[in-house]
Amino acid sequence: MCGIIGYTGEKEAEDILVDGLEILEYRGYDSAGIALCQADGSVRISKCAGRVKELRALCKEAGFRGTCGIGHTRWATHGGVSDANAHPHQFGKVTLTHNGIIENYRSLIQRYGLEDKLHSQTDSEVAAAVIAHFYNGDPLAAIRKAVLKLKGTFALSIIFEDIPGAIFAVRNVSPVVIGRAVQGSMLASDVTALGQYTKKYFVLPEFHVAVLKKEGIELYDMSGEAASWEWMTVDWDVDRSGKGGYPFYMEKEIMEQPEVIGETIASRIREGIPDLSGDGIPDSLLADCKRISVVACGTAMHAGLVGKALMQSLVRIHMDVELASEFMYADAIVDEDTLVIAISQSGETIDTLEAVKYAKKNGAKTLAVVNVRGSSVARASDYAFYTNAGPEIAVASTKAYTTQLAALYLLTGRMAYVRGRFGREDAERFAKELLRTPEAIQAVLDRREEIHYIARSILNAKDVFMMGRGLDYSILLEGSLKLKEISYIHSEAYASGELKHGTIALITEDTPVVAVVTQGKLQSKEFSNIKEVQSRGAGVILFIKETFDMDRNASWDGVFRLPAMEDGFMVMPASVALQLLAYYVSLDKGLDVDKPRNLAKVVTVE
Ligand code: G6P
Repeated sequence: MCGIIGYTGEKEAEDILVDGLEILEYRGYDSAGIALCQADGSVRISKCAGRVKELRALCKEAGFRGTCGIGHTRWATHGGVSDANAHPHQFGKVTLTHNGIIENYRSLIQRYGLEDKLHSQTDSEVAAAVIAHFYNGDPLAAIRKAVLKLKGTFALSIIFEDIPGAIFAVRNVSPVVIGRAVQGSMLASDVTALGQYTKKYFVLPEFHVAVLKKEGIELYDMSGEAASWEWMTVDWDVDRSGKGGYPFYMEKEIMEQPEVIGETIASRIREGIPDLSGDGIPDSLLADCKRISVVACGTAMHAGLVGKALMQSLVRIHMDVELASEFMYADAIVDEDTLVIAISQSGETIDTLEAVKYAKKNGAKTLAVVNVRGSSVARASDYAFYTNAGPEIAVASTKAYTTQLAALYLLTGRMAYVRGRFGREDAERFAKELLRTPEAIQAVLDRREEIHYIARSILNAKDVFMMGRGLDYSILLEGSLKLKEISYIHSEAYASGELKHGTIALITEDTPVVAVVTQGKLQSKEFSNIKEVQSRGAGVILFIKETFDMDRNASWDGVFRLPAMEDGFMVMPASVALQLLAYYVSLDKGLDVDKPRNLAKVVTVE
């Protein structure tokens, strides 16, 4: 988590840094700060607990000027939320910002006698102190020596008081991208912050030191030898990074789904059937594996659960979905016959990345389903399927999730075809229905005010339960996560048949229930389960496939009829309906929809 940015060039750095931090704020937003190199060589820091807009006001008041500087927006790990713990941190001639965790900071404090010398409780200041300890006029040597002492993950951007105009960057695991822009050089935690200035960037290789100057960029390996890099191109529309007239990114991103899902799917249907050759994914990868393991976190893991239901029923292959954070510690069984699919919006989630490394070490083939091109998970995997969601800024994931689902449909369709479970006609029919998802989602979006109205019935709830069976259950896990993360209402998703094994004890007239019914074969069982909660006084909001009959005599707290697709595809319109439900609850509660408390969009600490 945490976002870092740096600029050195012809222009005043302050606004460039603060604007960049605003874009990076989704990575963490409990405090922010910048350091500017003044013309006289001194380094001036403005930092405070709170959001970037508070930092902007503080900077204006301070009136520091400089054409070289670094900035940071924080998600607290070591040390609480305070002005002192905000970055940048300064120690001696060294000022730095840090993304990651220095795990051995305690032993470093002892080893370098720092007990009484630190001003914050952060591990990051310790890193600054270790670099300062080794610094005697040679910045590259100091960084190299210090980095070898650090254990953990880090992306560091560093300025030295006696080397004005230069920014040094080094990293292990945590990301840094670098580009030439605004008559100078820039670095950031991800390309969204650079995208408004340049389309060309490169990913700083791990354990290399980059030196950014007004005139250009240099790169050195750990032995001090000059190294080269590979330029990459930002391939998404920078306009998509704005709010486009919506009050929150989340609404804009929900509304973009027909378009981005359309793009994700249409580019992979050739001659009427799913075809992943454009992604460089060979059929042999899909044909030869004996089992699949998905590794992912949060929303991406929920996408994996939908994928599992699809794969198992259509491809008849064994598939596990593992929380990436548990995967390697559970001695997961993977071998050369296993295809490990890592799903990640950012491609930077450290647990997912580590799980990929573990899988490769154990001989598995790895495929990343990732949104951000060139991200760490994509680079670490053997193959990458890039979803076309474009930049997703709201912390609560929406379009990234549904494009992940689209990717999993495409993988399922192709796999079923190459393994002979689908004949050509089956594959064509599958692709044809998949191509209908944008229109079905659009139909939900066009009627979003109905969901807004329904959302009012759970505005004051303390607990909400969500119930469904089969595919409906897998999307409710995500719908429930969405509701709790942005509305702060406690919510739990239950497989309807499981409710009565304990949880039904919590159902009263004060616990609204959201039920999703889109699977024909499970319909009657599902309605029996709904009756069970209604009999205990719960009000039920029903999302139901429009062609299904429902009990008109029962009283519902709200009913939304979902546009009909084949049952196997209903998760797409239903997921979007659940996103809207969460969104409107959060909106009507007057919460900061895009930046829910305690969360960050990219989780780069274990
Ligand atoms: C964070 C985000 C979630 C996301 C999860 C995994 O918790 O807030 O929205 O699902 O990380 O992120 P990834 O980038 O790997 O999909």
